[in-house]
Amino acid sequence: MTYQDKVILITGASSGIGKELALLLAAEKARIILSARNEAHLLEVQAQCLSLTPHCHVLPMDITDERQVQEGAASAIAIYGRIDVLINNAGVTQRSKLIDTSPAAIRKLMEVNFFGPMMLTTALLPQFKAQQQGQIVVISSMAGLFGYPWRSGYNAAKHALQGYFETLQTEQPIPGLSTTIICPGRIHTDITYSAITGDGSAYGAMDPGQAHGIPVDVCARKIVKAMRNKKKLVLIARMEKVLLWMKRYFPPLFYFIARKGN
Ligand SMILES: NC(=O)c1ccc[n+]([C@@H]2O[C@H](COP(=O)([O-])OP(=O)(O)OC[C@H]3O[C@@H](n4cnc5c(N)ncnc54)[C@H](OP(=O)(O)O)[C@@H]3O)[C@@H](O)[C@H]2O)c1
Repeated sequence: MTYQDKVILITGASSGIGKELALLLAAEKARIILSARNEAHLLEVQAQCLSLTPHCHVLPMDITDERQVQEGAASAIAIYGRIDVLINNAGVTQRSKLIDTSPAAIRKLMEVNFFGPMMLTTALLPQFKAQQQGQIVVISSMAGLFGYPWRSGYNAAKHALQGYFETLQTEQPIPGLSTTIICPGRIHTDITYSAITGDGSAYGAMDPGQAHGIPVDVCARKIVKAMRNKKKLVLIARMEKVLLWMKRYFPPLFYFIARKGN
């Protein structure tokens, strides 16, 4: 099965994993709708996609603004008359200790990483219902499966995302709708530049751990493979998988090792 002619809305498509997914799916001649806040970056990605597929639109939208999400969902449907795949990928990480992190910063992390994808999904479910088919892909994180230092609000938001979309998988309100949850570990993207710190400001640097993460093209290829196979949950990680195993089967070692992380 290929994604040729499938209408695919990708959030967070202006950089990193979202951009890489757009290019891979454009190479399959999908009809891509690229969304994020930065229109100039979206237009650059669009130009690259249009060298691979004749169909690619940009849809600037702040995923934390309910009105923009409502209007964005309607505009996305209007472009091709349907949505076959929604990829909830937009997200922002965190670099600050819990004790130093303000409630406002935690709220910001919840808005982008949980309320945004939840609102967009809610806005598009009636369309999936009318079509009686579709696919939702959620880029969660290994941080959705265990708590890790310096990411209290990010962990909380990704755990919420995990719970929300697992519920969608268990309720299955639309028989032809599949939901795939992806949990990446560290992937080499620019994500730490925009990471939120304790007072809500941006971290503004590449984390050394991030720089040694899984290459973004490798991650994107695994995501597309998981989408194609309609997997429920896929972990794309290295050491984080070992940590998850420890948390389940040898919790003292998990806490000992995780405490040293950053
Ligand atoms: N990189 C990793 O190690 C890693 C690991 C696990 C999970 N993930 C998840 O993977 C996803 C993509 O991350 P990435 O690594 O590709 O990071 P990235 O390069 O920083 O991309 C994040 C994307 O989200 C968009 N975005 C941020 N805030 C937004 C908002 N309010 N409204 C709409 N779009 C917004 C950004 O675009 P604009 O700034 O233009 O809006 C950007 O396109 C995220 O959900 C992240 O949590 C990443």
